[in-house]
Amino acid sequence: MSALFQPFELKDVRLRNRIAVPPMCQYMAEDGVVNDWHLSHYTSLARGGAGLVIVEATAVSPEGRITPNCTGLWNDEQAQAFAPVVENIKKAGAVAGIQIGHAGRKASANRPWDGDDHIAENDTRGWQPISPSPIAFGANLPREPEEMSLDDIKRVQIDFVAAAERARDLGFEWLELHFAHGYLGQSFFSAHANQRTDEYGGSFENRARFLVETVRAVKQVWPDNFPLTARFGVIEFDGNDEQQMQESVKLTQLLKAEGLDFLNVSISFSTPNANIPWGPGFMAPIAERIRKEVDIPVASAWGIDLPQLAEHTIAQGQLDLVMVGRAHLENPHWPYDAAKVLRVEKPSWVLPAPYAHWLERY
Ligand SMILES: Cc1cc2nc3c(=O)[nH]c(=O)nc-3n(C[C@H](O)[C@H](O)[C@H](O)COP(=O)(O)O)c2cc1C
Repeated sequence: MSALFQPFELKDVRLRNRIAVPPMCQYMAEDGVVNDWHLSHYTSLARGGAGLVIVEATAVSPEGRITPNCTGLWNDEQAQAFAPVVENIKKAGAVAGIQIGHAGRKASANRPWDGDDHIAENDTRGWQPISPSPIAFGANLPREPEEMSLDDIKRVQIDFVAAAERARDLGFEWLELHFAHGYLGQSFFSAHANQRTDEYGGSFENRARFLVETVRAVKQVWPDNFPLTARFGVIEFDGNDEQQMQESVKLTQLLKAEGLDFLNVSISFSTPNANIPWGPGFMAPIAERIRKEVDIPVASAWGIDLPQLAEHTIAQGQLDLVMVGRAHLENPHWPYDAAKVLRVEKPSWVLPAPYAHWLERY
């Protein structure tokens, strides 16, 4: 019996299997508003059979977008446009999740296929990024961010809460706070980005403060019966790995005490000078360490796209969910192919009846 195709329950949410589509920016929105592209994209992913579909990094404020074409959830027009996306994901039998975030010093960038670099300062499409300290990321993102005041910090936390309320009212049942990949949340925790000397910088407790407070604030408005989760880069691969892992365990313990139910374990991406050991499933043992030391359910992505490998990570208790990203862009019916490879009984029934009926071969 396949472990990957066993249901997963967390609070009042039941995923039909252990396959999740991680958040993947489409860079196709106008003024943060989703459109036909997003509707067909997310509908087809949900029809593909994954248990959980997490909508892309959605900005909590205009300056929190990565690019001018990122999705947003800071106004009612944006919320309204999301309604059919949520409805279709659910109709297709998947749980609808959303990642909300703020891009921090990586904001105001061109789309990946338009250069993936900061928009020039004199180009009116761009804006001034903000971050814990006025330190640029470097490489393709050289623009110096403005240091956030204490008022800025409060305002962004209020923006997170407002976006969480909109997500809740839309019927999303899985909320992921984006604390990974060198964006704002991660930047507060990483000494590569945070050189503050006030209560938001320096010691472990101070660097953790923004994340802990944000989880605490969002917890006040997010329904108790649905998972409150985060994506966090637990490791940088900059030569300081063991210390980071120990701090990440401590941070996850703090977040869990605030009500975090689940961690999507990822990479920090806070410096261009990291040496990442890319390879199939290389993050799974790292996620497993967080799972065991913190006693919290976890997921991870990054090259877990061979069905046998995905199966192995679940069966061995490394992960609770497998995030399958790019393989879903290549083939939205990835779960069906995985079901065939893993010899699940009647694999086509991972898909909706109008497809499944014609595909049964076993
Ligand atoms: C087109 C694209 C957009 C992405 N956007 C996001 C995002 O919005 N939020 C996020 O946390 N990660 C994002 N990622 C990272 C993915 O969630 C995932 O971690 C990554 O693709 C590695 O998993 P994979 O090897 O299964 O593709 C993105 C990746 C891709 C390819």
